[in-house]
Amino acid sequence: MPKSDTKSVYVCSECEKRYPRWEGRCSQCGAWNALNEVVERRKKSASNGLGNGIGTSAGAGLLDGYSALEPIELSQVQVNTSKRLGTGIGEFDRVLGGGAVAGSVLLLSGEPGVGKSTLLLQAATSVAANQGTVLYVSGEESPDQVRMRAGRLDVTGDGIFLMNTEDVDTVIARIDILRPSMVVIDSIQTMTASDVPGSAGSVSQVRECARRLTARAKSTGIPLVLAGHVTKDGSIAGPRVLEHTVDVVLQLSGDASGSLRTLHGIKNRYGHTNEVGVFEMGTKGLSEVTDPSKSLLTDRSLRPEPAPGTAVAAVIEGTRPIILEVQALTAPSGGQSARRVATGIDLARMNQVVAVLARRVGLPLASQDVIVSVTGGMRLTEPAADLPVALAIASSLLDVAVDPGLAAAGEIGLSGELRAVPQAERRRSEAVRLGFNDCLLPLLNRSQSNGKSGAGAGTSAIGTLTEAVQKALPRRRDGLHYAESRIAAEPDA
Ligand code: TYD
Ligand code: MG
Repeated sequence: MPKSDTKSVYVCSECEKRYPRWEGRCSQCGAWNALNEVVERRKKSASNGLGNGIGTSAGAGLLDGYSALEPIELSQVQVNTSKRLGTGIGEFDRVLGGGAVAGSVLLLSGEPGVGKSTLLLQAATSVAANQGTVLYVSGEESPDQVRMRAGRLDVTGDGIFLMNTEDVDTVIARIDILRPSMVVIDSIQTMTASDVPGSAGSVSQVRECARRLTARAKSTGIPLVLAGHVTKDGSIAGPRVLEHTVDVVLQLSGDASGSLRTLHGIKNRYGHTNEVGVFEMGTKGLSEVTDPSKSLLTDRSLRPEPAPGTAVAAVIEGTRPIILEVQALTAPSGGQSARRVATGIDLARMNQVVAVLARRVGLPLASQDVIVSVTGGMRLTEPAADLPVALAIASSLLDVAVDPGLAAAGEIGLSGELRAVPQAERRRSEAVRLGFNDCLLPLLNRSQSNGKSGAGAGTSAIGTLTEAVQKALPRRRDGLHYAESRIAAEPDA
């Protein structure tokens, strides 16, 4: 190749910032000695179109045998999303939208220790039993460690082929020989491409290894599952950089102390992302929780007395209604600026609810720290969770338990009105099934259903947040405006 055809650039192995000349420290991420020289071909006019990247394996961009150069008419493209590979684990398949699509790439992310390897080994076991061999690449654990986990799960591991390597090209070569029905990489952070600078887990390695594996998954039609560790604040560069290149991103989460684990869809090119799978970690691995509401309410049912600061939410997660508890704690902030902490709900949304409670209901919340959390590691993204969050906060502030027979759902508008929620009737019937007398729902749901027995009918339909607070905290129905209530009279409030 003539010299003039190439040029050198220096690329940071941690964050991939490019420099025209070598420098000791990357100005973007601050890493020392992380710049590596990469020789690139200069851009040529339209000759092969694909010479854009760091010089690595060819074939990227050539998916499913389509030519990268010849456009194809959309109507002529063959799709086969019906060919889904069921993992055999109902809650897993639910979140996937019915199983893994042929050639799809799934990233399973979660904190270390949450149960990713356990879930993947269980899925691999079931796929190996029902569909054919599985290639399980464990860069993190030795084969005997994986075998020990299998022993714990009480499975023999027939049909699961283990590979204990970190070299991505070795894995790809083996995929070509073995042609398994599924490939599991545990984890993508342990994979390295020998011709790419940077250590295992660096952005450039993670991205390039995933790119090569993805290209092979697409060309062979074999579903690929990548496990990826994400730390608590979710800030680690590692697997996050893959979120836009993979087809499906699932997150496994749960509180480390408890045994419930939830599997959320964050992105899914072949299904909804609002589905949630619920599991319980036991002595024999993860078992499916088919009645999540019941499990999520267990702690509540064990309490001798209804606890102030708790409220029950009737939410819709994907295709099913789920009843769970929201907890709140308010405490005087003691002259400091008030702290607001939200776990399992959006902080901005919680602040809005606090503001409406203060301005429209008249609760003295300005000088109170407010902490809200959702049980079982669940995450509530629906606006319908506003009302139970508000009730839990009001209940804590007033130190009065919410009527234990009530669940609630409703979106709160800025003027303190309750807006209609979708699928009101399903929320109510799920609450009733679990033993609640009633579900507080917005009056507008009744108006919408136009008097016919349906959403809102036979339920406690209310128009405003003030009414809801009065109804749910019955012992404070003494005609007092809440601002004048006992809490406001306390010296430190
Ligand atoms: P693991 O799947 O190794 O987590 P990850 O791959 O996400 O890091 O799970 C680790 C935890 O799960 C560990 O603390 C032990 C627990 N565990 C059980 O409680 N029961 C089981 O049957 C298994 C296999 C693991
Ligand atoms: Mg693991």
